[in-house]
Parts: sequence; C-alpha cells; structure tokens
Amino acid sequence: MSENDPQTAPVDSVDASVDQGAVAREAAACAREKPLVGCGNEPISIWVIAACGFVVLIAGAILGSGGRLFSYGELIRANYARATAPGADKSGPEPKAALDAYMARGAKIYSAKCNGCHGPDAKGDGANYPSLVGSAWSTGETERFAMIILNGLTGPTSTGKAYGAGMVSQAAGLTAEDLAGVMTYVRNNFGNEVGDVITTEMAQAAMDTSAARDNAGMQMTKEELDANHVKPLPGEPLDPAALVDPITLVKVAGAAPAAAAPAAPES
Ligand code: HEC
Repeated sequence: MSENDPQTAPVDSVDASVDQGAVAREAAACAREKPLVGCGNEPISIWVIAACGFVVLIAGAILGSGGRLFSYGELIRANYARATAPGADKSGPEPKAALDAYMARGAKIYSAKCNGCHGPDAKGDGANYPSLVGSAWSTGETERFAMIILNGLTGPTSTGKAYGAGMVSQAAGLTAEDLAGVMTYVRNNFGNEVGDVITTEMAQAAMDTSAARDNAGMQMTKEELDANHVKPLPGEPLDPAALVDPITLVKVAGAAPAAAAPAAPES
C-alpha cells in the first residue's frame, strides 16, 4: 500500500488534532435528541388531535340533531306549504267517533242537496216544503226514509199533507257514504235526536232495494212506502262512539270505542 493510494491516503481536511471519536459520539447524541424545530412548527401531540376530533364529533351531533343550522324548515319560503312525501303518511287521517264523522259528511250533503228546499233549519216553509224536524218519516223506519231520499215523494207526507208536485229524487251523484251521512245528520240534528248511526252498509242496502223496485225512478207514494218499506235497513248498528275513518267512514279495526270520544251526544 503506497501513500499515494487515494483509497487509504488521509484526508487533508481532517484536523489531526481533533478527536475523531468525540465527534462521532456527539453526532450520535445529537441524533438521539428530538429534532430542533422552529417556533410554531412543533409537531402536535396525538392526544391534542384526538381531543379536537372528539370536540368536532360532539359539535356535529349537536348541530345535526338540535341545531337550526341544517334545518330545511328554516330555509323554505314563507307561506310555502310542504307536501308530505308520498307514502310518508301511511297512517291516514285521525280516526273520529262514528257519529261525529257521519254527521260531518251529512252536513255537507244536506247543504248541497236538501237545504234549498227544506231550509237551513230543516223546518221547511210550511207551504211548499215540509219540515224534517220531528218528521215521523225522517226519524222513523230507516228504509222508508232512505227510499224518500233516493226516489223522491209525491202525495201525502207523514202528516197527511201533500206539497205541490212533491219531492224529486236526490239520488244523483249520491254515494252510500253520502246517503248514510245525510240520514244520520237529519236524524240527529235540527232537534231530532234518534241517536243512531246509519252505516254505509245500511245505505248500500237501501240503494240496492231502491234499484230493485218494479217502478224504478218513479217518486215514492205513501201507499208504496206503507206496503214495502216500513222496516229498518238491514245491517249491524254502529256504536256512535266507535272510531271510524273520517273519509271512508269505515270502522277503524282494532281501535277501542275510545274514551277519546266522550262528546257523542246521547239520545
Ligand atoms: C227540490 C226540493 C227538495 C229537495 C232538494 C229535497 N226535498 Fe225533501 N221534500 C220536498 C217536498 C216538496 C216534500 C213533500 C213531498 C210530498 O208532498 O209528497 C219533501 C218531503 C221529504 C220528506 C218526507 C217528510 C215527511 O215527514 O213526510 C223527507 C224525509 C225528505 N223530504 C227528506 C229530504 C232530504 C233528506 C233531502 C236531501 C237529501 C231532501 N228531502 C231534498 C222537497 C225537496
């Protein structure tokens, strides 16, 4: 090995007076220390990050559940009614006590179909239209009452008095629900207090009976009523307090005749 061998020749820049071993030890010690970083550039502890994450999580939960920030309701325009999403309202309208629901339907039908002649108080006018208040044929046998509405009436009425050309059929456009409603309404309103509910099944039976008449479409007479229709309509009576769907008037299955409807008038 010659001194000129570049592989082994001592590096000129190394000061032979410096303890090479001490330099190596210091360098190793420095490497073991945490690196020096500039002020503001210190690494953040993992616990600080975790704590911040926790705070963000809680804040998000509060905003999402109770806060108004993400509430769509706060953003919609005034007077803008949001429709219920299709299928969201599967439960349907609130059930109502049968008597109330039938009466509500009946009130509409009465004002549309009967009011014009029998008057808003159902007292008629005494000259051309008879009173339905206390009228034996309104409050009596239900089939006779239904036949008068469906077919009209001519000749003597329950009081024996005949009014002009009589009453024309009111069957046009009348559904079983409408008929049941208006019968229930007349029987339990204007001072009449029969206290029964004429069900849609009973009304349907009346419509079937009416359609099966020999002289279908002709006005009823006292003779025909007396001969064939002095009887109650077939069908189960409905507890006036039983809960029904206010639109279809169908009894709500499983619902107890609720204490929710104590207001049903007694007869
Ligand atoms: C176009 C006028 C008119 C309309 C509408 C009308 N009625 Fe009449 N109604 C009469 C007349 C007139 C008589 C009397 C018929 C007769 O003299 O035979 C009568 C008689 C009756 C009677 C017999 C009363 C009794 O005691 O003898 C009943 C019940 C009755 N109407 C119920 C109704 C009901 C319920 C409605 C509505 C669904 C209705 N009427 C709609 C004119 C009308």
